[in-house]
Amino acid sequence: KSATKSNFESELRNTAISLVQQGKGIYATDETTEAISARLAAAEGANSKQYTTDQEKQRRYEWRKCLYETLPTDYISGCILYQETLVNFGLAEVLSKRGIIPGVRIDTDGQPLPGAGYGEVFTQGLDDLTSRCQIFKKHGARFTKWRAPILVNASTLPTELAVDAQATSLARMAAVSQAVGLVPIVEPDLDFSGDATLERSLEVHTKVIAKIYEKLAAHGVYLEGTLLKPSFVQPGAQNSERKSLTADAVGKATALALSRSVPVAMPGVVFLSGGLSDKDSTAFLSAINKYSSANNVRLPPLTFSFGRGLQGDAMEKWTRKDFQGAQEAFNKRAQECSKASIGQL
Ligand code: 13P
Repeated sequence: KSATKSNFESELRNTAISLVQQGKGIYATDETTEAISARLAAAEGANSKQYTTDQEKQRRYEWRKCLYETLPTDYISGCILYQETLVNFGLAEVLSKRGIIPGVRIDTDGQPLPGAGYGEVFTQGLDDLTSRCQIFKKHGARFTKWRAPILVNASTLPTELAVDAQATSLARMAAVSQAVGLVPIVEPDLDFSGDATLERSLEVHTKVIAKIYEKLAAHGVYLEGTLLKPSFVQPGAQNSERKSLTADAVGKATALALSRSVPVAMPGVVFLSGGLSDKDSTAFLSAINKYSSANNVRLPPLTFSFGRGLQGDAMEKWTRKDFQGAQEAFNKRAQECSKASIGQL
């Protein structure tokens, strides 16, 4: 164990615990500049205007600031920023002044992984990670997030090579984050656009998450100062099981995958919404909490770290310049997510 890291242990643990305190979750606002511009344009709909580069940038700033200033502190514990929002816009302080913990996305997206299956990627961003983390920390970040997309199908994907590569880079980023004093959120994002059954999704989630903790142990990561951000265990969109899928089935499969793979030292799990409808994302989250408490499945707090699952309605209103309506829509949705995080939806 490095001397540097042990200096941060209690701070890391306290930050991780604060992020998953009861009834609260994380708002993920770490879309790339291109992605957030595209989402704003889509929300604007058919009348979407053309903006210059500078106008686009101003628009991103104003969207972020409008929401950050009124995020409901009863339901939101932390917020994941993209580097532009943190470093160029300097918006972490707006959050931390209100008691919301700012974090930052530190991966720089995926590239095709040579030798692996068709479409499999490995996430980039390790090369200059220590210095970037130090800069992000100076700008107010207290945690990091690294997304590792993993393709899943009924039989051939993911390959062992892809799982190994993604788990190894998650462990490396977690170790580097902690050495700088930042809590890493480890995000295996298992694709559900394919043809996998629910059973297959359960099997792959269990294997991938177990592999990640094997690698975290090998890299000396302090588990108490980390969080896991998985996807919900569900059949792929192209599998016929999807038609009759119930939230209870997702709840059970997800609780089983986690209880079979997550070490008990881990302080919390924060789910991504992955483009699911608002209704499904909260129904799934609530079902996992209900299943684990009804069946005595001992898991850490299970809450949300949603992007799309929180902001859809708010964004539409904001593009119509209904700023108060946007803030109210966000609060309403955050309250539903909060209820789901305690199994009361
Ligand atoms: P979504 O909830 O929109 O999937 O975003 C969460 C996230 O951070 C994905 O990387």
